[in-house]
Amino acid sequence: MSDEKPPVEICKGVNDLDKVVLRGLRGSSAEVYLYGCHVTSWKNNHDEELLFLSSKAIFKPPKAIRGGIPICFPQFGSHGNLEQHGFVRNRFWSIDSSPPPPTVSCNKAFVDLIFKPSEEDLKIWPYSYEFRLRITIGPGGDLMLTSRIKNTDGRPFSFTFAYRTYFSISDISEVRIEGLETLDYLDNLKSRERFTEQCDAITFESEVDRIYLETPTKIAILDHEKKQTFVLRKDGLPDAVVWNPWEKKAKSMMDFGDDEYKHMLCVEAAAIEKAITLKPGEEWKARMYLSVVPSCYRSGQLAPLRVLQG
Ligand code: BG6
Repeated sequence: MSDEKPPVEICKGVNDLDKVVLRGLRGSSAEVYLYGCHVTSWKNNHDEELLFLSSKAIFKPPKAIRGGIPICFPQFGSHGNLEQHGFVRNRFWSIDSSPPPPTVSCNKAFVDLIFKPSEEDLKIWPYSYEFRLRITIGPGGDLMLTSRIKNTDGRPFSFTFAYRTYFSISDISEVRIEGLETLDYLDNLKSRERFTEQCDAITFESEVDRIYLETPTKIAILDHEKKQTFVLRKDGLPDAVVWNPWEKKAKSMMDFGDDEYKHMLCVEAAAIEKAITLKPGEEWKARMYLSVVPSCYRSGQLAPLRVLQG
């Protein structure tokens, strides 16, 4: 009998919560909790964790899991009448029994989850919809999240959205982001005032909480110490949020270690400035694709251009 593990396995995680383990071809993997449809782990072929998950994360409603990839919908942030970042991140999702057909037929490491609002949810946000999310580990160990939101209501509705990825990094002082230079951003720390990025690359010396607008579809996060670059590609999501709470805010968060801000960076594929509007019967699709590549050194500098242009 083969002791090979299956590409998709449903098992129990922290606090006995259901989770789905996805296994790629060469040892890569991902874990998805049905609570929040929350990706909590993404590992490369060498079993190294690529996502940050707080040691203090609370795996219990109503708190969303701190780390991994929470889904912000139907409201990003606190601008609006709903709770911060909406409510699907702290609801239980189900496995979708009638998912759309797979796009890459040879790949078996994917799962489809679905969320439909309950009567209670409809009291908070009075629209019917079906939110389907497919999580896939590609043949090379890449992680892909594809959301489809269908308006099943009789009226149009509008929403904002983000895939909030907590990348695991060696140290925040060793990291820079390429691909957002010269863009306009809204500064969440200054009541969403609009500024233009002046730096050649984004580096970190204090709290940052910004919504970069109309960004390119590819963003690189370079980790100088690990000599590794995360590449974030996105479709249907024009904006990108960059967040690190830094020391003071970290201390005020009960589900986050005091020093953990040094080892995480959120870069979020998002649609925030211009809300998405769906008419009755319409469906919206948005995809985020994450990969990790070794960074190469050229004259003392990491060379991300190949990544961004490739
Ligand atoms: C980021 C926001 O996306 O999420 C920040 O830009 C916010 O403003 C952060 O503080 C964390 O939010 P929460 O609700 O998970 O603590």
